[in-house]
Amino acid sequence: MLKIGVIGAGTMGSGIAEVAAALGQVVLLDVDLERAQAGRSAVEKRLNRLVEKGALEAAVRDERLARLAVSDHLQDVRDADLVVEAAAESLAVKQDIFRALGELCSPQCILGTNTSALSVTAIAAATKGPERVVGIHFFNPVPRMQLVELVRTPLTSQECLERSKELVQALGKTPVVVDEAPGFVVNRLLLPMINEAIFLLGEGVASAEDIDTAMRLGANHPMGPLALADLIGLDICLAIMETLHAELGEDKYRPAPLLRKMVRAGRLGRKTGQGFYSYDR
Ligand SMILES: NC(=O)c1ccc[n+]([C@@H]2O[C@H](COP(=O)([O-])OP(=O)(O)OC[C@H]3O[C@@H](n4cnc5c(N)ncnc54)[C@H](O)[C@@H]3O)[C@@H](O)[C@H]2O)c1
Repeated sequence: MLKIGVIGAGTMGSGIAEVAAALGQVVLLDVDLERAQAGRSAVEKRLNRLVEKGALEAAVRDERLARLAVSDHLQDVRDADLVVEAAAESLAVKQDIFRALGELCSPQCILGTNTSALSVTAIAAATKGPERVVGIHFFNPVPRMQLVELVRTPLTSQECLERSKELVQALGKTPVVVDEAPGFVVNRLLLPMINEAIFLLGEGVASAEDIDTAMRLGANHPMGPLALADLIGLDICLAIMETLHAELGEDKYRPAPLLRKMVRAGRLGRKTGQGFYSYDR
């Protein structure tokens, strides 16, 4: 059976572990066991909800949970066929993880990063065997979102890309192949729109509710940009805008001051219970 390692058990890692457990044996890893366990509990809660709704058989839930182990030791992914990293959006953190994975994992193991906007090439270059490093960019919430951007660096081998495509399809997702560029396709288009909505709010042009209603009813978006920012996490939104700004060097990518202020205040959206809206946790 396929063995899949997931590094980082937060919003994305727990979602990736959930879909991966439908395919193979999964190790969900974080900096400590408590966080890794919290990621697993989030999966359990979502699967329980599906069972209650009659969308999943209890036996299938039990099987998937039995395949989902937690760990705080990178050693536990050394025999994986695929590792997907979904840790903090920091180049230094990701390079450290990939440096260690490059030493630990077999040359056949595919090493994927779920980075939102960082340079996959810079991550690959820190890894022994950079030809097996690829961006595997899932979307939030992972169990529901169909797309995966497969990000090819100049160092990624064709074999790695083909196998990644097959794995992504086996996970029930649709891959699109993108050459590395800041923010890839989706975030390059989506985040400047979210950032502009935050500028509008900061300038007092309209309320958060009205900005979101305007885009839902006027542009037929399923969700308004500010509610979407809360779902993504405002820290992640800021990190993506900073990458776009630094890499592309144009003022149009400048993060909105209100976004910085919210992040400094720890109002990160759904995950902290408070962002542009309040959430019961
Ligand atoms: N939130 C989104 O909508 C979204 C969408 C696509 C991609 N991403 C990307 O996925 C990654 C994770 O984002 P998230 O929203 O899940 O963040 P999160 O803050 O919810 O979770 C990150 C987790 O990684 C853990 N972590 C940090 N350093 C680690 C390390 N060295 N080893 C193991 N675990 C470590 C943290 O303890 C935390 O539990 C980021 O790179 C982000 O840009 C996020």
